[in-house]
Amino acid sequence: MERPDNLILVIFGASGDLTARKLLPALYSLKIQNLMPEKFALLGAARTEWSSDDFRKHASEAIKKFSEEKDLDPAGIADFTGCMNYQRVEYLSLSDYEQLKSVINTLSATFHTRGNLIFYMATPPSLYEIISTNLTKAGLGSPADGFKRFIIEKPFGYDLESGIKLNQTLHQLIAEDQIYRIDHYLGKETVQNLLVTRFANGIFEPLWNRNYIHRVEITSAENIGVEDRGGYYDSAGALRDMVQNHLLQMVGLTAMEPPSSLDADAIRNEVLKVFQSLQPIKEEDVPKQVIRGQYTASKIRGECVTGYRYEKGVDNHSRTETYVAIKFYINNWRWGDVPFYIRTGKRMPTTVTEIVIHFKPSPHHLFQRVIGKLSGNQLIIRIQPNEGILLKFDMKEPGSGFKVKNVNMDFQYKDLADIRIPSAYERLLYDVMNGDSTLYARDDEVETAWKFIEPVQKAWKNNPAIKVYGYSAGTWGPEPSNSLIEGEGLTWRYPSKNLADEEIYCEL
Ligand code: NDP
Ligand code: BG6
Repeated sequence: MERPDNLILVIFGASGDLTARKLLPALYSLKIQNLMPEKFALLGAARTEWSSDDFRKHASEAIKKFSEEKDLDPAGIADFTGCMNYQRVEYLSLSDYEQLKSVINTLSATFHTRGNLIFYMATPPSLYEIISTNLTKAGLGSPADGFKRFIIEKPFGYDLESGIKLNQTLHQLIAEDQIYRIDHYLGKETVQNLLVTRFANGIFEPLWNRNYIHRVEITSAENIGVEDRGGYYDSAGALRDMVQNHLLQMVGLTAMEPPSSLDADAIRNEVLKVFQSLQPIKEEDVPKQVIRGQYTASKIRGECVTGYRYEKGVDNHSRTETYVAIKFYINNWRWGDVPFYIRTGKRMPTTVTEIVIHFKPSPHHLFQRVIGKLSGNQLIIRIQPNEGILLKFDMKEPGSGFKVKNVNMDFQYKDLADIRIPSAYERLLYDVMNGDSTLYARDDEVETAWKFIEPVQKAWKNNPAIKVYGYSAGTWGPEPSNSLIEGEGLTWRYPSKNLADEEIYCEL
C-alpha cells in the first residue's frame, strides 16, 4: 500500500471524544504501519484553552488509553505527537480562521505539504456549515494549490429537509468530490468483506435473490446504554443515530447489484439504486412496520442499571427511542416480496452486529415425518465482534433412521492469521488521504436514505398515540417487535456474542 502525499490534517473539535477515542489512535496505527505521508502535520483546533504542548500531552494519553495496538512504544508515541500543533478557535469568528490560515502556511512551509489540506469536522453537527463557510471565506477551500478535502461526521442533517440543506450549503462552497461523509460502518473490514463474499465467490450470487431467500435480517445491538452522550442522543434517537446511516448502508451492500468495477461511483451508484427501490413506508403503516422502544431500569447480572430517562443529559419524560425495528421491502426484480427486517438497540443482552440471510426451505420435506419442521439454511455474516461467517445447514445424525441435526460451518477472521483487524477509522482516514471516496457516503445516497426515513419521523411526530414500548435493560427489546416477523412461529435470531458458541439453532 502506498503512502499518501504530504499533507496537513486539521481536526476541528480536537478536544472531543471522537478525536481522543478514534481519530488519534487510528492515525497512530497508520503511522506504525508506515502508511502516513512522509511529511505530515496535525493541527488540532477547538475552543479549549490549550497550548500545542497541552494538545500533544492529551494526544499521547489518548493513544495510550484507546489504541488497540499491542505493544505501545512511548518513544514512538512521543515522536508521532511531535507533528501535532494546536490552535484555539471560536468557530464563529472569521479572524480566527485567518489566524488558522497563517499557522497552516507556516506548517506547510515546514512540512512541505504543498497546500494539501484535510479538514475533519469532529464537532457537534450544528457547526459543520459554519466551519466550512468560514474556511472558504478565509480562502482555505480552493483546490487550486493542493487538494482540500472536508470530512463530515454523521449525522448528516436531522431529517430530509435539513439533510438537503446541508448538502446545498456545502455545494455552494466546495465541490462534491471534496466532501467525505464518514459512515464508519463502511470502514469496517467485515462490511467490506460483504462485497468480496458476494462477488468473488461463484456459489452465493446465484442464490442471492427472491427465488432462494426467504428473508433478510440485520441486527446491530449494543449492550451499553447512552453513556456520556445522553444530551446528543436524546435529540437523535436510534432511528437517526443508527438506522438512517449504518443499518441502511448494510442493507445497500447486502442488496445491491454487482457493480461494474470497484470504482467509488460504480459501487455508490448500486447502493443508491437499492435506496431508490426501498418501498416507501406509508405514514399510516408505521405502527405496523416500525416498532420503537426505550430501555427501562433493570438488574443485569446482579448490577442495577439506570433506565434511559434517568441517564445524564436525558429528559425525564423523553420519548426518544433507544430501540427500533423495521420491516420493509425492496421493490426490484431481485428482492420483490422478500421482507427485510432491521433492528438496533442500546442495552441489549450483548453487543453484536450481524446480517442473516434466511434461505427458503427445500421444496419437498423428505424427512419431515421423522423430525417435524425443518429449519431453513442460514448464512450469518458476523460484522462484529468475533468477525466471521457461519453457514447453518442440516445433517444426518449418525445412527439408524433419519434424525436430522442443524449444524454450523464457520469461518472466523481470527483463524486467518494473527492479524489485527484495522479499525474502521484507520481505513477511512487512509482512504481520504489518498483521495479514495469509495467508502464514504455520497450526497444522493444520504438524501435518499432520509427520504425513506421521513414517513417514520413524520408519523412519530404527528401521532403521539404510536407507542414507545418500554423494555427492560438487558433484554432483546420490546415484545411487539417479534410480531413484525412474517410467518408462523418465526422470530428474530437471538445471537450469542461468540460465533464459536453458536450451538444448534432451530426455528420454532
Ligand atoms: P463532543 O461532544 O466530544 O464534541 C467535540 C468538541 O466540539 C468538544 O470537545 C468541544 O470542543 C466542541 N463542542 C462541543 N459542544 C459544543 C458546542 N455546543 N459549541 C461549540 N463547540 C462545541 O463530540 P464527539 O467528539 O463525540 O463527536 C463529534 C462528532 O462526531 C459529532 O458530530 C458526532 O455525532 C460524531 N460521532 C461521534 C462518535 C463518537 O464515538 N464520539 C461516533 C460517530 C460519530 P471545544 O469546547 O474545545 O471547542
Ligand atoms: C455511532 C453511534 O455512530 O455508532 C453510536 O453514534 C454507536 O451511538 C456507534 O454506539 C456504534 O459503533 P460501533 O462501531 O461500536 O458498532
